[in-house]
Amino acid sequence: MTNIQLFAIHRGAQLSDTDMQTALQTLPLEDQQRIMRYRRWEDRQSGLLAAKLARKMLSDHLGVAASELQIGRSDLGRPYVQGLTQWQGDFNVSHSGDWIFGGITTQGVLGVDVEGLREIEMDVSKHCYCPEERDELYSLHGTEQNAFFYVLWTLKEAYIKAIGTGLSTPLTSFGFDIPSLKAGRVLLKDESGTPQPHWHFQRYDVDDAYRFAICSDQPNLPSSITLLTRDEVLN
Ligand SMILES: CC(C)(COP(=O)(O)OP(=O)(O)OC[C@H]1O[C@@H](n2cnc3c(N)ncnc32)[C@H](O)[C@@H]1OP(=O)(O)O)[C@@H](O)C(=O)NCCC(=O)NCCS
Repeated sequence: MTNIQLFAIHRGAQLSDTDMQTALQTLPLEDQQRIMRYRRWEDRQSGLLAAKLARKMLSDHLGVAASELQIGRSDLGRPYVQGLTQWQGDFNVSHSGDWIFGGITTQGVLGVDVEGLREIEMDVSKHCYCPEERDELYSLHGTEQNAFFYVLWTLKEAYIKAIGTGLSTPLTSFGFDIPSLKAGRVLLKDESGTPQPHWHFQRYDVDDAYRFAICSDQPNLPSSITLLTRDEVLN
């Protein structure tokens, strides 16, 4: 049976330069360079923790030393394990604000997303949400509207990350059934409105100021996320 595991790490206070350097040096040069391109220390630290989390999840699951894993990226940026033709699983990571979120599945595909709640620009919804989704969004106000905006956002991101296409898939080319969402279920619909029940979604409450969501082609998604300390991924 498919096993999916989810992990979250709080980014926490700034690591010392020594700890940051020590951890960076355990990663391939291209990862070090990608992480050091972030201008803010917060983003560098989150990028580092996400890269370490990905390697820890894979290493624990595959029984391969983290330093021996070769992680490539598709043309659309999707990370994958190179050279493991037998492995039928998948992994994915996300980082936003204080949180780093990651998941691994033994079968099929997985996309994960975390987003911090920020003030929203309703204009953005025209480019991201379908008419039915926008109608619901406009019918809400204040914190409810803000929360719904990010529920949709994280579900959409989790889906485009599960299929690996990222933003090359227009976010208005698929949507979520509103009556189902209101009833606490998530049902994906394609551009023509046809339900796609073979895609499974789950949302998680970890921090009131954030929304967490995952998407997979596998059923029976986990009901909770395991919290890890920074030390558990850095050491
Ligand atoms: C890159 C993208 C896939 C996710 O971006 P994001 O939400 O800003 O970032 P997240 O932290 O959730 O995810 C980034 C991670 O996803 C992974 N990733 C990148 N491209 C990916 C792809 N095509 N498929 C799956 N995973 C991908 C990477 O591991 C990346 O982290 P890393 O570079 O540190 O290793 C893409 O959807 C994007 O740029 N989104 C912009 C946000 C936006 O405008 N959203 C509108 C929603 S309404």
